[in-house]
Amino acid sequence: MSTIVMSGCATGIGAATRKQLEAAGHKIVGIDIRDAEVIADLSTADGRKKAIADTLEKCAGSIDGVVLCAGLGVQVKPSSKVTSVNYFGAVELLDAFLPVLEKGHQPAAVVISSVASAHLAWEKNPLAAAFEAGDEAKAGAIVDGAGEQGGNLAYAGSKNALTVAVRKRVNAWGKAGVRLNTIAPGATDTPLLQAGLKDPQYSESIAKFLPPLGRRAEPSEMASVIAFLMSPAASYVHGAQIVIDGGIDALMRPTSF
Ligand SMILES: NC(=O)c1ccc[n+]([C@@H]2O[C@H](COP(=O)([O-])OP(=O)(O)OC[C@H]3O[C@@H](n4cnc5c(N)ncnc54)[C@H](O)[C@@H]3O)[C@@H](O)[C@H]2O)c1
Repeated sequence: MSTIVMSGCATGIGAATRKQLEAAGHKIVGIDIRDAEVIADLSTADGRKKAIADTLEKCAGSIDGVVLCAGLGVQVKPSSKVTSVNYFGAVELLDAFLPVLEKGHQPAAVVISSVASAHLAWEKNPLAAAFEAGDEAKAGAIVDGAGEQGGNLAYAGSKNALTVAVRKRVNAWGKAGVRLNTIAPGATDTPLLQAGLKDPQYSESIAKFLPPLGRRAEPSEMASVIAFLMSPAASYVHGAQIVIDGGIDALMRPTSF
């Protein structure tokens, strides 16, 4: 049995992943605002500090895997909460857990990004400099000042930067012997997606976002790929972003990959 730290495991993709990893015999130490071993709010610097300290204490210096699922959707206001949870709530945890993780058994980590990470090029991401500088207040001020576009910018901008942050860590993590990958889900039936469908600004675009497979994904269809990436069967997969979207990225951008 190995110990896997997970964020965002109370509902949706995280809950489905927790179920599959537990069924495979792993012990999960979950971090969430509710229904988890460690209760913490990843939208604030203090909450993230508490999440890290309480998790390290609960794991008693032994972590074999990290799966970061916590995230907020486009409709959440203020948009600065989205940039805080989606980017800082993942990157700060990754960096804090690496020194323990590298001593683990066949260690690996998976971070949940999104197909939206490719909706914005890094070179044109207005949040890139603030994220790279670790300037949470600046990233928040940009999206909160972006009016109607704030939600899309916060979501796509934070997921784009999150995938970049993972890719930029590939050498350090590889040398530490820890595999690190992202998944990029398309529309998946979870509370996050349902909240977006109920929002007057985003309902139409989310409802139209149907992929070639003709349906949205079930959370378990994300969990099975995460479980594979966390397993020794994926022993040479490192620095990859696995797109799990029923074909929508290939449909929209057939020549970009
Ligand atoms: N559902 C989709 O269509 C979709 C598509 C692409 C990417 N994603 C990503 O998948 C991940 C999981 O989302 P989901 O769809 O399962 O949604 P969800 O709302 O069911 O799950 C999000 C989880 O994060 C937790 N969380 C939210 N804010 C938090 C905070 N401040 N502190 C601690 N925990 C917090 C929630 O309690 C919940 O357990 C997210 O990162 C999301 O961006 C989802």
